[in-house]
Amino acid sequence: MTRVLVINGPNLGRLGVREPEIYGSTTHEELAEMCRAEGLRLGLEVEVRQSDSEADLVAWLHEAADTRTPVILNAGAFTHYSYALRDALAQVGAPTVEVHLSNPAAREDFRHNSVIAAVVSGSISGFGATSYLLALQAVASRLEP
Ligand code: DQA
Repeated sequence: MTRVLVINGPNLGRLGVREPEIYGSTTHEELAEMCRAEGLRLGLEVEVRQSDSEADLVAWLHEAADTRTPVILNAGAFTHYSYALRDALAQVGAPTVEVHLSNPAAREDFRHNSVIAAVVSGSISGFGATSYLLALQAVASRLEP
């Protein structure tokens, strides 16, 4: 089974209690379970990780680059300004998907720019937890022979 790494950045560990009117009431553990279940359905072994630390996220992207592991990344606020994440993501020679629960384009101006959008295979935003399931489907379709 192909392994897929789902990486969640800062504040996403607080899903369920964090601004539920924007991010929904699903907790991070429930989201992780949904991703693992969708992965099984698609024949993917999904591992979900979360950190508030940019250094952890960079290290996990290096690991994905070294093992050619597909990545689904919700970089949280780092999306909008972390060139370090952008440079790490650019090294992953496997499908990569940028995901967001909300639709950043419909929110504050500072969320309109993504510094990672140009180095991912594609982006999915605005569908809540379903954004992740759509991203897994996109990865599965990219991996089909
Ligand atoms: C987010 C959108 C970002 O602007 C925000 O900083 C987040 C979550 C989303 O999933 O909608 O932390 O990435």
